[in-house]
Amino acid sequence: MITMSFDFVFQNVKALVPKTSSESSLVQSAVNVGIKDGKIAEITSSPITGTETLDGQGRLHLLPGVIDSQVHMREPGFPHKEDLEAGTKAAALGGVTSVFEMPNTMPATTTAELLQDKLNRATNRAWVNFGFFVGGSHENIDQLATLEKKPGCSGIKIFMGSSTGTLLVEDDATLERILKAGSRRVIFHAEDEPRLRERKHIATDSRDVKMHPEWRDEETSAKAVERVLRLAEKTGRPIHVLHVTSQKEMQLLAQAKRNPAFQGRQVSVEVLPQHLLLSAPECYDRLGTKAQQNPPIRSEIHRQALWKALELGVVDVIGSDHAPHTLEEKSKEYPGTPSGMPGVQTMLPLMLDFVNQGKLSLERLTELLCENPRWIFGCTSKGRIEKGLDADFTLVDMKKRFRIENSWIASRCGWTPFDGMTVTGFPVGTMIGGKFVMRDNQLTRPLGKMVSFL
Ligand code: DOR
Repeated sequence: MITMSFDFVFQNVKALVPKTSSESSLVQSAVNVGIKDGKIAEITSSPITGTETLDGQGRLHLLPGVIDSQVHMREPGFPHKEDLEAGTKAAALGGVTSVFEMPNTMPATTTAELLQDKLNRATNRAWVNFGFFVGGSHENIDQLATLEKKPGCSGIKIFMGSSTGTLLVEDDATLERILKAGSRRVIFHAEDEPRLRERKHIATDSRDVKMHPEWRDEETSAKAVERVLRLAEKTGRPIHVLHVTSQKEMQLLAQAKRNPAFQGRQVSVEVLPQHLLLSAPECYDRLGTKAQQNPPIRSEIHRQALWKALELGVVDVIGSDHAPHTLEEKSKEYPGTPSGMPGVQTMLPLMLDFVNQGKLSLERLTELLCENPRWIFGCTSKGRIEKGLDADFTLVDMKKRFRIENSWIASRCGWTPFDGMTVTGFPVGTMIGGKFVMRDNQLTRPLGKMVSFL
């Protein structure tokens, strides 16, 4: 019998837990989960009591807190697009408990002071937990090994192709120096800058957003992936390839994962919900420049290839690449329009809808959103329902239908490309350190804390 009284108890929830404590594969188990002092203190099928209780009636699913490992919160620099307060509200409403933010702000996050500035800005304002990536540049290579170890640093991010902001490292010699500086996983926006420059006329001549995937074509992404894989093999450094969009990249990455020269988990791979859901030309006909993002949304062949890679286990992580821009900015003439779309609030609802459609299991989704970010980014107190870990949870009603609308979006940009779409499966609670920051679509208070990384 368990006599301890807990601060909070989830009763009779279908929790997504590891099969055994030594395994990373997950199963759904009808259990009670007890929380004490912000940590997971008990997972049991025996009755337990708590100061506060929520009865899941054997119907609600309890996921480890969902981690969105690619968001752009625009602070400092572009508060009209987004800020840390609104962006993390959006995260909480979307069932996300931790966000790792990208360095292409203004100024770009390239020094210890600028990293600390972001941590200061997030403290007491962020609704969910946070970490920040530092941008690798020509100027800070010698400091990267120190920077990546700073508290709150999610790792080093490299833009191999120019996108929003000024960060760019396009040549192999500099990339190799960066990969030799430090030891944590380096994350890559992989588009080949020389090819982007060579083909830019396709965008400027046509002024048609439908040509976006033609300008930034499959070869542009594949070439960059090929280069970064070669450098990773040469240097032995773990790498993470962000927002993979094409068939050829997936073939290269699948091959790399089979290559014994890459040790185990040296290469990890992210895809985005929008690349799994939308395809060209339909998305450009319907959404125009709202669908413009880098790397682009491509044709149906590529969308299918991403699903295949997800099924085969080549994909490790789903991230949103939450990249808000205002509708005014998006309504300029292409290619003067910025690339990117908001997504932190819709990532989990879209993915739960895919689960309901039978496209992937809830266990696999939990691996992609919780379990895998643990080892990829080294945030080992999160991402798993296990005794002793942080009591961050995403409570999900797999039957709940919800119509996504612009009016629901908490981001400063105030729109979503998924306006009008009805999903089945929805987050009904976002808990951080044992306390709800969102319950039934109502926000409570900002409780986000800095995430610790190994
Ligand atoms: O479409 C994009 N937008 N891709 C990126 O890599 C950056 C992002 C942004 O920050 O706007």
